[in-house]
Amino acid sequence: MITIDAGPSGTLRVAPSILAADFGSLANAVREIDAETDWLHVDVMDGHFVPNVSIGPPVVKSLRQYSDRFFDCHLMMSEPGRYLEAFRTAGADGCTVHVEVGSTATLIDEAHSMGLRVGLAANPDTPFSLVAPFLGDIDLLLLMTVFPGFGGQSFISDVMGKVSEARREVDVNDLALDIEVDGGIDVVTAPIAVEAGANVLVAGSAIFNRSDPLEAAHELRVAARSGRG
Ligand code: DX5
Ligand code: ZN
Repeated sequence: MITIDAGPSGTLRVAPSILAADFGSLANAVREIDAETDWLHVDVMDGHFVPNVSIGPPVVKSLRQYSDRFFDCHLMMSEPGRYLEAFRTAGADGCTVHVEVGSTATLIDEAHSMGLRVGLAANPDTPFSLVAPFLGDIDLLLLMTVFPGFGGQSFISDVMGKVSEARREVDVNDLALDIEVDGGIDVVTAPIAVEAGANVLVAGSAIFNRSDPLEAAHELRVAARSGRG
């Protein structure tokens, strides 16, 4: 099973979240924004870790035929370890688990052993100290800028301190680690997040709620670049 290359860590990336797309025509939505998609952010919700249910491996498998982008699967699940193999087989390239569910070291090892790129996510109220011990073992740190479960929420700017703290750790220790923000990212908040130290921007409603999602994704990329000073 090939893994699509995520690209060099630290590169500025736009990762559209399909949660905000039209699920009745998901392949078209994904193809329409392909030219502005670095990673495709796939939000998986189990109705237990978060009070919502979205999609699972069957949808990843179907979408895999229509996109050769890096599939960045955000597993908002209480027991992600039970499904890593299924997501890998379906075509996931990276899987991100939440530190709040525990067994973090085991999950990181299991995901890496399957050839997955591994992300660790932290909710807005989870302290940086909880993820700090794992920075050397992961490929992606996802710092949620909303509480997970739904798209279209407002950006929680208090998380920017955590983003900057993570960026300092990555730079001081020269870690090959991407810092991703997710939730309420748009042309206003994207440069704020990039200036704080994020390099991967997940956006759902800011892209798919527009009549021209491709244009919206391009505008987001331009806005994000302005945050790099
Ligand atoms: C929320 C998800 C996010 C969300 C982003 O639980 O993890 O990826 O879909 O949607 P927007 O960009 O609309 O906040
Ligand atoms: Zn997400």
